[in-house]
Amino acid sequence: MNVIITENYESMSKEAAKIVVDTMSKKINAVLGLATGSTPEGMYAELCRSYNKGEISFRAVNSVNLDEYYPISATNNQSYRYFMNKNLFDKVDINKSNTYVPNGEAKDAAAECKSYDELIASLGGIDLQILGIGRNGHIGFNEPNGELIPVTHLTSLTESTIESNSKYFPTPSDMPRSALTMGIGTILNAKKIVIMASGKEKHEAILKMLTGKVTTMWPATMLNLHNDVTLICDRRAYYGE
Ligand code: PGA
Repeated sequence: MNVIITENYESMSKEAAKIVVDTMSKKINAVLGLATGSTPEGMYAELCRSYNKGEISFRAVNSVNLDEYYPISATNNQSYRYFMNKNLFDKVDINKSNTYVPNGEAKDAAAECKSYDELIASLGGIDLQILGIGRNGHIGFNEPNGELIPVTHLTSLTESTIESNSKYFPTPSDMPRSALTMGIGTILNAKKIVIMASGKEKHEAILKMLTGKVTTMWPATMLNLHNDVTLICDRRAYYGE
């Protein structure tokens, strides 16, 4: 695993954006695997800046997001579809019909998951997958468990995740208790992976990943099975400062 340690959140965001820009300049129709949450917000702001300066175009890009709450309406301001529109898609020249987020309104979750994996395969796979990391080591919504599901699936959220994310909802009980998420296998199929982390609360999860070992109880450690992963983290996440 390549490791880039940055001074702070801003420099972490810039380093991650550089890798996205590099991927897009090498392949104009790149398939970007995108993530939501507070971690990648700064990276999206950097990408919007590069777009505004005319350095990049998303015209031919396809994007597939990691996960979505379930059930949730796309217009709910806590849905990941809403987040992506607000932070990136509405601000650049991407063709919205080439942007994919698991459908939190699907009647049949299993069918939605199956068609999501088929969609990724039909796009030729993911060129660059961006990831955040949960305090409990989750990636996407692959929560710690004795067993992990490799493909896109419906999953229950853990108390740790509910505690971290419920603050964004009007009341904690408004937060969905389930989500649709790419599986670990879907993620590991990406050609290149960037995982970002900022803040002391991510330190333990980062340390587990950097042992180089693999355990389903810290899902991010599964990234040690991939040969092109870059961890970009700030000093607080790396040193636990
Ligand atoms: P965060 O979430 O970026 O909001 O910290 C990361 C994650 O849970 O994967």
